[in-house]
Amino acid sequence: MRRFIVAAWCCAFLFGYLPAVWSAEKEAAKPGPATYVGNEVCKACHAPAFEKFSQTRMGKIFLFNARNEEERRACESCHGPGSNHVSAGGGKGVGGMITFRKDSGESAKVQNDACLSCHQRGMQTYWEAGPHASRGIACVNCHTLMEKTSGKQLAKLSDKTPFSINRAEIEVCGQCHLQRKAQLMRSSHMPLREGKMVCSDCHNPHGTPNPSQLIKSSVNETCFMCHAERRGPFLWEHPPAIENCANCHEAHGSVNDRLLKVTDPRLCTQCHVHTRHPSTPRNANSRFVFNRSCTNCHSQIHGSNHPSGRRFQR
Ligand code: HEC
Ligand code: HEC
Ligand code: HEC
Ligand code: HEC
Ligand code: HEC
Ligand code: HEC
Ligand code: HEC
Ligand code: HEC
Ligand code: HEC
Ligand code: HEC
Repeated sequence: MRRFIVAAWCCAFLFGYLPAVWSAEKEAAKPGPATYVGNEVCKACHAPAFEKFSQTRMGKIFLFNARNEEERRACESCHGPGSNHVSAGGGKGVGGMITFRKDSGESAKVQNDACLSCHQRGMQTYWEAGPHASRGIACVNCHTLMEKTSGKQLAKLSDKTPFSINRAEIEVCGQCHLQRKAQLMRSSHMPLREGKMVCSDCHNPHGTPNPSQLIKSSVNETCFMCHAERRGPFLWEHPPAIENCANCHEAHGSVNDRLLKVTDPRLCTQCHVHTRHPSTPRNANSRFVFNRSCTNCHSQIHGSNHPSGRRFQR
């Protein structure tokens, strides 16, 4: 009996008391929640990073012209409070800093939340609802922040291509949208590869309430920003043009003339099969396939304002 009591006591000691002591010791060793220590402390060990960051627009504001408490935190407004990192002497993975290193395993959500605390409005208003956020894309997939790059801090991905703001953007989007980037090289294209246009002329990569992240409410409204002459109103409307320019055009680039999705006359005969111009094989020099094909005669294909322009010939 006594042996049993001793054994029971030993068990109780081993499984109850000791773990309690151990965990209490561990508790005591674990530092409390980190607090903000200020930029000067960071500067002491990270002088080169400090120097580089101070050249950027955010650096200039945060470090020298802070307008509120959040901006004054500067380094810690993005990397989080640093007291634990500092008291442990600094180091990789030390003190629970929010890190933006590619190999850190930090989630895009944590990284993005650091930015969204200030950038919730303006261009970023629809971020949370956009396809980039829902697919786990991070702000830092497209932006570099610790050193001055382009006007909008776009990531500098390649030292090979000559650096221009517009070129940088196409490289940035091209990381993932390989096909779109490749399309720009087709014979018919808007002047993106020449550096005169960028993806963000039509898209807002931070998300929009519109289809395909377009900056305007529809495809047509987006095109009308630059091709206003196609807006009409027309006396004689061609329904597919009123509906969607993308019925006939491929905005990113095409092997057919004038960004057409399909070459004439097939473009037209997708919809117009039973007209008086049957879609049967013809001689190569037939007026129905020669040069601009159907638009040799139906030249006002986007709509006509001529009293007798019902067939879009004038
Ligand atoms: C606007 C947000 C932001 C601020 C403010 C900021 N950083 Fe960074 N930091 C980043 C990002 C993003 C990276 C990843 C590299 C890059 O994009 O340039 C980074 C990288 C670093 C790194 C390299 C390790 C890592 O986690 O990638 C150090 C060290 C660092 N920052 C220190 C600082 C110091 C010191 C300050 C204050 C002078 C500071 N940062 C201010 C966003 C910020
Ligand atoms: C006592 C020196 C010291 C101080 C003070 C210090 N750091 Fe560090 N920090 C380091 C060292 C060392 C590293 C590791 C650098 C490396 O591996 O390249 C580091 C790494 C980092 C990293 C990368 C962490 C990771 O896991 O990749 C960030 C971010 C960082 N520091 C931010 C800060 C910020 C913000 C402050 C100010 C609140 C600060 N540090 C203050 C020494 C310090
Ligand atoms: C403390 C608030 C704050 C935080 C946190 C913050 N920003 Fe900013 N950011 C600003 C301010 C203020 C500006 C300057 C806006 C202006 O001049 O209109 C700015 C400017 C920018 C710009 C434009 C830079 C330029 O040169 O035009 C980019 C891009 C940007 N931030 C991205 C980010 C990203 C990505 C993060 C997260 C890693 C982030 N910011 C975190 C406040 C913040
Ligand atoms: C898919 C790429 C991509 C991602 C992801 C991205 N950005 Fe941008 N960002 C851009 C491009 C491209 C521009 C330049 C747009 C322009 O010039 O109109 C830009 C511009 C900005 C600007 C400057 C806007 C202005 O009004 O001057 C800020 C601020 C900014 N981004 C913040 C962020 C923040 C915060 C995140 C994450 C929530 C983020 N970005 C994610 C591509 C991206
Ligand atoms: C890190 C990878 C990555 C980068 C960089 C990137 N995207 Fe995306 N993008 C995606 C993913 C993933 C999707 C979602 C695709 C899907 O759901 O099929 C997407 C979707 C889109 C869509 C389609 C939206 C829709 O509703 O159908 C557009 C438009 C777009 N991105 C534009 C851009 C632009 C412009 C840039 C450059 C400023 C860019 N992306 C950079 C990964 C990226
Ligand atoms: C002239 C305007 C314009 C430019 C510039 C432009 N796009 Fe688009 N993009 C569109 C339109 C319009 C659509 C929708 C097409 C449709 O509905 O068939 C679209 C659709 C997309 C989609 C979604 C495709 C899908 O299948 O859902 C992605 C991704 C995309 N664009 C990426 C890019 C990238 C990357 C760039 C820069 C290299 C770019 N776009 C430049 C107009 C443009
Ligand atoms: C930011 C301005 C801009 C927007 C938005 C825009 N375009 Fe363009 N587009 C251009 C420019 C610039 C050219 C080249 C004009 C030239 O070479 O004379 C062009 C050329 C074209 C051409 C003729 C291409 C050729 O090979 O001759 C077509 C077709 C076209 N755009 C269709 C569209 C469609 C469809 C949309 C909407 C999805 C659109 N554009 C939106 C600026 C724009
Ligand atoms: C029914 C098919 C169709 C639709 C829909 C359509 N287009 Fe076109 N578009 C064409 C054809 C065909 C041409 C070539 C005309 C020619 O050969 O003369 C063309 C040419 C163009 C050109 C180049 C003109 C030039 O002089 O080189 C632009 C710009 C253009 N379209 C813009 C638009 C816009 C913007 C929309 C939407 C409002 C649109 N298109 C809708 C068939 C269409
Ligand atoms: C996406 C389908 C579609 C495409 C592609 C298309 N059209 Fe049309 N087209 C229509 C519709 C719908 C009408 C209106 C028919 C009606 O009012 O009875 C129309 C009307 C017309 C008319 C006036 C006919 C009439 O009876 O008033 C002509 C001419 C015409 N299209 C020529 C063309 C040519 C040429 C092309 C190629 C450049 C073309 N269409 C491409 C759908 C299309
Ligand atoms: C040589 C000039 C010419 C060419 C090329 C031409 N058309 Fe026509 N098209 C006409 C004339 C003329 C009419 C009749 C106009 C009228 O009755 O007012 C017409 C009428 C039409 C109509 C109105 C429906 C109908 O049957 O009356 C459609 C649709 C049409 N054409 C489509 C096409 C398509 C598609 C092509 C290319 C395969 C094409 N056209 C090529 C001259 C031409």
